[in-house]
Amino acid sequence: MRQASQDACRSHVKMTNNLVLIGFMGTGKTTIARLASRLLGVEPIEVDHMIEQRAGKPIPSIFQEDGESAFRSLETKCLEELQEVRQSVISVGGGAPCQELNVPIIKNLGYIVELTASADAILERIGDPAARPMLAGTGELRERIESLMAEREPHYRIAHNRVSTTLLSSKQSSEQIVEQYRKWLRGQH
Ligand code: S3P
Repeated sequence: MRQASQDACRSHVKMTNNLVLIGFMGTGKTTIARLASRLLGVEPIEVDHMIEQRAGKPIPSIFQEDGESAFRSLETKCLEELQEVRQSVISVGGGAPCQELNVPIIKNLGYIVELTASADAILERIGDPAARPMLAGTGELRERIESLMAEREPHYRIAHNRVSTTLLSSKQSSEQIVEQYRKWLRGQH
């Protein structure tokens, strides 16, 4: 193989060009990943779903029966498995970027967009808090959301871009994100 084509091959193998959605619970990652995938003609990958499949049980049961650290190990394993994936839409659970070990793995996945939303919007969207083990506990749910959000905010700064979903429909958010992603992809060639 000639040098130029060898180099082209190598750079293709190295290129990680997924659209990656990160952000706090209830910011719309799952829905927006589905809509963005449809616009891009690909299948979305949800890390939380991969974890549930590996564990053979829903996330609240993993937390309850095996503890958060078992959940976090599975999360890291799933993120590692995705290193070979190209040009997909990947939504990552809200706590994943807060684990130092996961940061280089997530960064290597591609173009990262952080979804944000106001505490009020999150409170409205969150539904049954029993399904969100990180929000379990006593006291005001709103206060727990606000303090966890403040704690996590610096970890989400690994994103290339940030989109607030508070006032946008999921359709509007996904269109905006896909446009940014396409621009980024063009810059990768
Ligand atoms: C978590 C967020 C959840 C899920 C798990 C832990 C977190 O994902 O991974 O309950 O630590 O914030 P979503 O952000 O998709 O709700």
